[in-house]
Amino acid sequence: MSVMRSVVTGVGAYLPANIVTNDDLAKIVDTSDAWIRERTGIVQRHKVAEGEATSDLAVAAARQALERAGRTPADLDLIIVATTTGDLTFPATAAIVQRKLGAPVLIAFDVQAVCSGFVYALSVADGFVARGMARCALVIGAESMTKLMDYTDRGTCVLFGDGAGAVILEPSEQPGTTADRGLLGFALRCDGTKQDLLYVDGGPSTTGTVGHLRMAGQQVFRHAVVNIAEGVEAAAADAGIEVASVDWFIPHQANLRILKGVAHRLGIDEAKVICTVDRHANTSAASIPLAMAEAVADGRIQPGQLLLLEAMGGGLTWGACVLRL
Ligand code: UT7
Repeated sequence: MSVMRSVVTGVGAYLPANIVTNDDLAKIVDTSDAWIRERTGIVQRHKVAEGEATSDLAVAAARQALERAGRTPADLDLIIVATTTGDLTFPATAAIVQRKLGAPVLIAFDVQAVCSGFVYALSVADGFVARGMARCALVIGAESMTKLMDYTDRGTCVLFGDGAGAVILEPSEQPGTTADRGLLGFALRCDGTKQDLLYVDGGPSTTGTVGHLRMAGQQVFRHAVVNIAEGVEAAAADAGIEVASVDWFIPHQANLRILKGVAHRLGIDEAKVICTVDRHANTSAASIPLAMAEAVADGRIQPGQLLLLEAMGGGLTWGACVLRL
C-alpha cells in the first residue's frame, strides 16, 4: 500500500560571523580552555551580533535550504520554527520569517520543545504533509542561546552558542517500505516532573523578564545517556529498521561525552556520528539541522542514506527521528 512521505529536498544552515573561543570566556568567568575541551569537547561557539535576531539566522538558513531544494519563498505553504529564543514573546518567529522571506500567506507557527524542538517540529510538519495540507514545508531550528546565558555561571555560560539550520519537506508517494525516502519513524517524549533540572528562570506570566538558563548538569547528563537510547530504539521500531543499519547518526550537540556515550550504548560506530559540538557548542533546536547541513554540504551524507536524529533538552523533552534522504 503506497503512503505519502515527507521527503527532505533541501538543507541549509547559518552561523553568525562572531566566534567566541574558550579563552575569550576564560577572561570573563573562572574557567579554562582545558576544562571546557575535556568536559564537553567544545572549542568555540558562534554568537549573534548586536541587532541580529533569531529570525535573521532562520531566514539565512531558510534561503539556503530553499535554493538547494530548487524552490523559492513563493512555493512555501508551511513554516515551522523550532526555537526557545524567539525575537518577541509574540508574534511567532515563524510569522516574522514569513514576512522577511516575502513568502505568501501560509501556515506559520513556532514549536517550543527546547533542544528537542527540531525533532518535534519535523513530526508536526510530517502530519501536515500526510494530510495534504503542505506541499512545500520549511522547518527551521533557530536559536540565540547566548541571550539566555548568565555570564557569572561558569557551569552553563560556556556550553551554548547561536545558529540556525533548515530543511524543506515535500510530499512523495512511496511504496511504504523501509527503502522509502522521507521521514520514516518518530519517538517523542516529555517528563515535566524534571523541569527543575533544566529551565529558564523568567517568562511573561511569572517574572515578566526573559530570565537565564539554569541547569543541574550532572543529572541532565545521566538522564540524557539513558533516555535518549530508549527514544532512539522506539523511533527505529516505529520506522521498522535496526539502529545498526543507519548510515549516519546526527545527535543533538550538547556534549561530546554524551554523543559518544549514546552512540556506544546503541552500538553505533563512532565513525558514523556527525559531530559539530566542537565548533558550534550547544545551539539547542538548531544543532541537528546545522550538523545535518554540514554533512550534506561536505558530501558525507548522500541521497538515499538512512539518518538517525536524536535530541534531549528542557522539559525535560527528548525524541528521535529516522529518515532516508
Ligand atoms: O541541551 C540540553 C542538554 N544539556 C546537556 O546535555 C548538558 C549535560 N551536562 C553536561 O554536559 C555536563 O554535566 C557539564 C558539562 C555541564 C558539566 O560537566 P561535569 O563533568 O558534569 O562537571 P560537574 O558539574 O560535575 O563539575 C565538576 C567541577 C565542579 O567543581 P568542584 O565542585 O568539583 O570543585 C564545577 O564547579 O567542575 C567545575 N566546573 C567548572 N570548572 C571550570 C563547572 N563548570 C566549569 C567551568 N570551568 N566552565
